[in-house]
Amino acid sequence: EHVDVDPAAYDAGEHDSFMRKEMLEQPSAAERVLRGRLDERFGTGHLGGLDMDARETRAIKRVKILGCGSAYYVGQMGASLVEELARIPADAEAASEFRYRNPVIEPDTLYVAVSQSGETIDTLLAVQEIRRKGGRVIGLVNVVGSAIARECDGGIYLHAGPEVAVASTKALTNMFLGFALLALQLGRVRDLSIADGKRLIAGLSRLPEQIQEILDGEEALAALATDLAGAESLFFVGRVRGFPVAREGAQKFKEISYRHAEAYQTSELKHGPLALISPEVPTIAIVPADELTDRNVAALHEIAARGGPLVVLTHADVDLGEVPCRRIDVPRSERELDPILLTIPLQLLAFHAAQVLGHDIDKPRNLAKSVTVE
Ligand code: G6P
Repeated sequence: EHVDVDPAAYDAGEHDSFMRKEMLEQPSAAERVLRGRLDERFGTGHLGGLDMDARETRAIKRVKILGCGSAYYVGQMGASLVEELARIPADAEAASEFRYRNPVIEPDTLYVAVSQSGETIDTLLAVQEIRRKGGRVIGLVNVVGSAIARECDGGIYLHAGPEVAVASTKALTNMFLGFALLALQLGRVRDLSIADGKRLIAGLSRLPEQIQEILDGEEALAALATDLAGAESLFFVGRVRGFPVAREGAQKFKEISYRHAEAYQTSELKHGPLALISPEVPTIAIVPADELTDRNVAALHEIAARGGPLVVLTHADVDLGEVPCRRIDVPRSERELDPILLTIPLQLLAFHAAQVLGHDIDKPRNLAKSVTVE
């Protein structure tokens, strides 16, 4: 399968920046990563590039995900997907840390390297270290034929097309979808029911349209971003499925707006960050409709009681009670897939905050699109 975008012919077109163009391309990019990979009959993923039969797939006891920057945060979302759908213990770690701590490599662990460029040095060297010790590594990579793609035992190409802006958007969304396909396939050779498999396939198929719906709401998010751009410091909070969303949101915000943006687990607020909450420090809270909504709403009260301005990313059917906040309702997917839809408005917030502040959106100071030297 080939990416139907020619890198040489890729420019920002009528858009003022690559980031904006790439955000708007997400619905079509998402369709490409899913194309031909949904097996509706058996309610599973169909990933030819994995190169593992059902017996080998069943023998996996752990999944360890490695990446840097945004790829690492999506890796955390991917680890949740694997645990929830396949009930295999899974976690993500920054490849840059992993490779320096003499990691224990186990033969029944599936290692997953995730990278847009396929050239990030820390991720590449982590892959080489794992393979040298006999571990099996698959790649979730966007650039076809890149170093990481070549070094892996197999993998899933992301088909996002070329990505130029330092702040990753469409590649990141496709990474999440790649993890969803992988988790579905791992789950369906184990205990995930065919009904759940079909439910998730239906959810995945709806995502491109739902992403478009969020992008269509850009104007309201731009207005909100104008207010947030005035803050020197912001918190992004979420718990469990929502925490990697908060981390990715804070990352985007800090890297292009140059404001201090810190992600925290909502559950840990009372162990430190509450001391910093004040009318000058806004909090962006991730509050999906799930089994933790009540706990999250209780935390919103704690923040509001200290005068902290609140922006809440949530679903239309969530009752936030009397909490004073600015609310962003995001379309609802299957609960396991919600994190990616909650991530999209955070891209738009970061983008518009950076634009209001007059920064170079595609090339933020001190950062590179891919870090290929040590
Ligand atoms: C750099 C970029 C990030 C990116 C990270 C990993 O830090 O600025 O946007 O997420 O590298 O890049 P990769 O190509 O491996 O996904």
